[in-house]
Formats: sequence, C-alpha cells, structure tokens
Amino acid sequence: MHVGFSAVSKTYDGRTYVVRDLNLEISKGEFLTLLGPSGSGKTTTLMMLAGFEYPTSGEITLDGKPIQNRPPEKRNIGMVFQNYALFPHMSVADNVGYSLRVRGVPKDQISKRVAESLATVRLSSFAERKPTALSGGQQQRVALARALIFEPSVVLMDEPLGALDKNLREDLQLEIRQIADRFGLTVVYVTHDQQEALTMSDRIAIFNEGTIQQIGSAEDIYARPENRFVADFVGDNNCLDATIVRIEGDIVVANLAGGQEITARASRHAFVGSATSISIRPENVILLDEANPGALSGRVDEVIYCGDQLRIHVELPGGERLIAKCPSSSVNIRTARHSPVHLHWNPADALALDGRQTN
Ligand SMILES: Nc1ncnc2c1ncn2[C@@H]1O[C@H](COP(=O)(O)OP(=O)(O)O)[C@@H](O)[C@H]1O
Ligand SMILES: [Mg+2]
Repeated sequence: MHVGFSAVSKTYDGRTYVVRDLNLEISKGEFLTLLGPSGSGKTTTLMMLAGFEYPTSGEITLDGKPIQNRPPEKRNIGMVFQNYALFPHMSVADNVGYSLRVRGVPKDQISKRVAESLATVRLSSFAERKPTALSGGQQQRVALARALIFEPSVVLMDEPLGALDKNLREDLQLEIRQIADRFGLTVVYVTHDQQEALTMSDRIAIFNEGTIQQIGSAEDIYARPENRFVADFVGDNNCLDATIVRIEGDIVVANLAGGQEITARASRHAFVGSATSISIRPENVILLDEANPGALSGRVDEVIYCGDQLRIHVELPGGERLIAKCPSSSVNIRTARHSPVHLHWNPADALALDGRQTN
C-alpha cells in the first residue's frame, strides 16, 4: 500500500510543534526507516499513521485515500514495538492468533494461519510456550508473527530491536528485512541506531526536531549528506570551519583559521567569502609521513586502537581537531603522541556544507 503524508504537523500542547510540515511518500513494498535522535518526532509520526494520534493539520493517505476518519483497526496496519506487549498468560500460539479471534475468524482457519505465521519467524516448536519462557529475540519474533498474521498492507516497527544485544539485533535485522521482501511488505521502521538504518532500509528519512533533514538511500545519506546535522548524525565525521577563498568548478578552496588551505566538493550554496563547514569522513583522511604540497600539517594528539583499525586524532595549527581512521594492518607512519603528521584527502571525498551561521 502506498502511504502519503502531506503537510502534516502535530502539536500536543498547542504551542510546540513536534512534527512540522511533513511531506513524505512511501511506495508500496518499500522499506523506509525514520532515523533521528530521541524526541525528534519519529514515534509521533508512526502513531499518526497507525491512527492512535491525529495530525493537528495536514493529511495522511493510504493508496491516495485520506484516512483521518478511519479508526486504527480499519487501517490494516500491523505494529511491532520495542516492549513486546505480549499477553503473559497466553501461549505463543494464542498471542499470535489474538487479532484473528477478536475479528471472529473461524477456529480452524486461525490455527492454520498461526502455524504459518510461526513458521515464518521460525518458532513453530514454541507454539505452546508462554512468552516468559522465551528469550528477548524470540519474544520479538512472536510480536512480529502477531503483526503479520492478518496480512497487513503496512507494517510499522518502533525500535523493535532496541532491547536486544548486538549480535541478536544484527541477526534479526536481516531476518526482518528478508520477511519484508518475501511478503512485499511496506514497512515504516523507526530506529535511533544509524547502523541499523543503513543496513536495513531502501530509504532513510533523517529526522531532527520534527522535520526531515534529508531522505534518500543509505549511500545518499552517508556519502552525500546535505547538511551538517546529517553529516554528523550518520557515521563518524570531521567538521572543519573554514572560509571559502576560491571556487574552481565543482571544487571549493577554503581557508582554515590557522591559514592552511583545504579543498572539498562545493555544495549548492557555496560562494567566495562565505563561511563553510568542511565535512570529511575519518576513513577518507589519508595520513602521510612526509610533507607534501597541498597536504595539511598537524600533530598526533592521540592514537586509539580499535582492533581492526586505528583512530588517530590530529591537532591542526589553528586548534582544529580531526580524526583519521586507518586499517591497523596498513599504518606505517609514526603515530607517537605529538609527532608531526601530514594529511590530505581526495577533494571529491570532502563536502563543503553551509557554515554555522546559516545552518
Ligand atoms: N502523548 C504526548 N503528549 C505530549 N507530548 C508528547 C507525547 N508524545 C510525545 N511527546 C513529545 O513530542 C516530542 C516527540 O516525541 P516522539 O515522537 O516520541 O519522538 P521520538 O520517537 O523521535 O523519540 C517529544 O518532545 C515528546 O516529549
Ligand atoms: Mg520514539
């Protein structure tokens, strides 16, 4: 089912808008993730789509039809939350079949569909257990089976893996994505975990303070952030304040406070004399042992061993700090504290975003 948000705003108290002028189209079969910090309006957006909250203004549509006046149970939307909300006194099978029982579906059909649903989430042999006798990951799979059993056209998931440990979370991320693909589900998934969003989604909408900062594929968001919030929120990032001194085609040349020149891809708004924030991913910073024309000079401030990689903190003459990430196996520079170091990057890997005052 196609989902549309058109100029949707929401305030709970009549003063502060927690969702502002939201415009969003979600295609049938798409896996869209809302990613953003706590309090940015993600859950409110889901609740309005589910029908448990109402927009203060604007319109939400399913397949082009406004749903404002349709109660939650008539929207054909399945939901999975972080706290599994399973009935503790009922068996797994009864939990999964619950929504069909309240809809008056005949018993033999219910047992058939419960069996199918449990098979989908690989829990067939747990049908008679109580939820309390299951692990967190298994309970969440029961919640998923319960949401899928009435063949919803849209499934909403609000931080469903938030309570699970890392390995289990990664397994379930893949499993949920596979189930979504197999059934062609339209999924709106909420998380504040950027890695989860990058792994699972067709598209990611980055939320901050009730507005979408950017929407696009994982690669769009990571490699082509449109503003500093997105650049900082998704992945590790260095931001260097600088002033644009020249623009050469797609490339800007900017001056750091210490006078050194740096280069980056120009954003739409770049012009000479304006403040900019140069955004460069730590893995794209290249460290050199020797001075090199065009390279920046600095000093090693700290070296952190992270197993597969080293994180090298560098201080530049103007006081800016920058982090470089290199595979541990390939570092051949002197990384003692305070040793001089030189660095550069491919200008195409850095982005000149709007400076602080205009952001
Ligand atoms: N039922 C409510 N009544 C009043 N304020 C609420 C309610 N639900 C959420 N809020 C507020 O709305 C803002 C957005 O919350 P929420 O949508 O839960 O964000 P997120 O899911 O991104 O953490 C927060 O400031 C929160 O305190
Ligand atoms: Mg939330």
